Amino acid sequence: MMRYGRWIGMGLLLLVLVLVLPWGDPAVVPVTALPEGPTSFPGMLVPAHNQTHPEAIALGRKLFFDTILSNDGKVSCSTCHDPGRAFSDGLPHSTGAGGLETRRHAPALVNVGYVPGELFWDGSVGSLEEQVVRSIEDPTEMASDWTTVIRKLREHPEYGPALVNLFALRDGSHLRPMHVAQVIAQFERSLVSGHSRYDQYRAGIAALNEAELRGLAIFFDFEDELPDAECNHCHTDPFFTDFQFVNNGIQSPDQWKNNPDGGRVEVTGKPFDRGKFRVPTLRNVALTAPYMHDGSKATLMEVIEHYNSGGHPAINSSVNVRPLGLTERDKSDLLAFLHTLTDSTFIHNPDFQRP
Ligand code: HEC
Ligand code: HEC
Repeated sequence: MMRYGRWIGMGLLLLVLVLVLPWGDPAVVPVTALPEGPTSFPGMLVPAHNQTHPEAIALGRKLFFDTILSNDGKVSCSTCHDPGRAFSDGLPHSTGAGGLETRRHAPALVNVGYVPGELFWDGSVGSLEEQVVRSIEDPTEMASDWTTVIRKLREHPEYGPALVNLFALRDGSHLRPMHVAQVIAQFERSLVSGHSRYDQYRAGIAALNEAELRGLAIFFDFEDELPDAECNHCHTDPFFTDFQFVNNGIQSPDQWKNNPDGGRVEVTGKPFDRGKFRVPTLRNVALTAPYMHDGSKATLMEVIEHYNSGGHPAINSSVNVRPLGLTERDKSDLLAFLHTLTDSTFIHNPDFQRP
């Protein structure tokens, strides 16, 4: 046994090195540099290997807005995730650096650091870091490759030295995709939105008008005399999503047959997950039209009409999506309530703009 001890020891050491090296960032001191959400927000779970650091966030922000990451030098993350639109782009589908269209609608990036599980409409991406790694080589997004991107960053007068310094690398030859992914992910975790008029109302420092309050009661099923729209079952306070994958009846099972986008089934392989998508947040939703994974609803009123109709019935659609019987007044009040979720401090936060 002793004879092998040395080898086992060395093996373990190697294993530790393999596990730690690509992620290791001993120079990044864990400090909390994230903007504060309202007290109703729980703490954000930040990966141990990528603790927040103001310098990393600042560098991540520069890269997020820089077209250096794309193959044609014209597309940045902000092309499809524009701060003025709560980091969405106003299009049903977006066009990336390779001239190809994205398969789905670009979602807003609002409180993405709080998503407890997987990202993307179908949950096919494990973390913010992984998303960046994939985005560079995705033919519908940056359409580039990591060898090129790392070379461009290494040769860049600011980015090269800044990354080497931040991660305490010996030199630019040690720069890895994960370093780039980590700083961009840190910037994304800073995109905290929790100061809408709704939050101010909750905190007792702002009032909502009669229509907004009526819409709020309909949204949360608060009052017996008003219809229950059931929205809060899925779009749950405080993030206005429960982060689950559900079928809200956007497409009929007939449409599924011709639709190459199966949603959650593509990840789990379970037929029952066909047509399920992750519940999106409704914070800043008034700024993020068009709506749904396919961008098929142009306005919020179209969305409300969809829910009022009960959507397309399917074996796996949620019981909370059913004909609601809302009056014109109910619908416009619900719309007024959705507008109270706009957080102007988020849209105008100087730390989130193009540097
Ligand atoms: C050409 C448009 C385009 C570009 C460029 C782009 N994205 Fe996206 N982004 C999308 C689309 C479309 C999705 C949805 C993909 C899906 O669900 O299948 C998405 C999804 C995301 C998500 C997941 C959000 C969620 O709630 O699940 C994050 C995070 C993200 N992008 C960040 C970035 C970052 C960071 C960059 C730059 C490195 C970037 N994106 C570049 C279009 C784009
Ligand atoms: C059973 C769960 C569920 C219920 C109940 C529900 N939603 Fe949704 N909602 C979803 C899912 C899932 C999506 C995304 C579906 C897709 O992309 O195909 C969504 C999408 C949306 C969107 C689009 C957001 C975006 O960024 O694209 C809006 C707006 C919305 N819902 C508002 C409401 C309102 C208002 C109600 C109540 C009348 C409601 N929802 C009830 C699950 C639900």
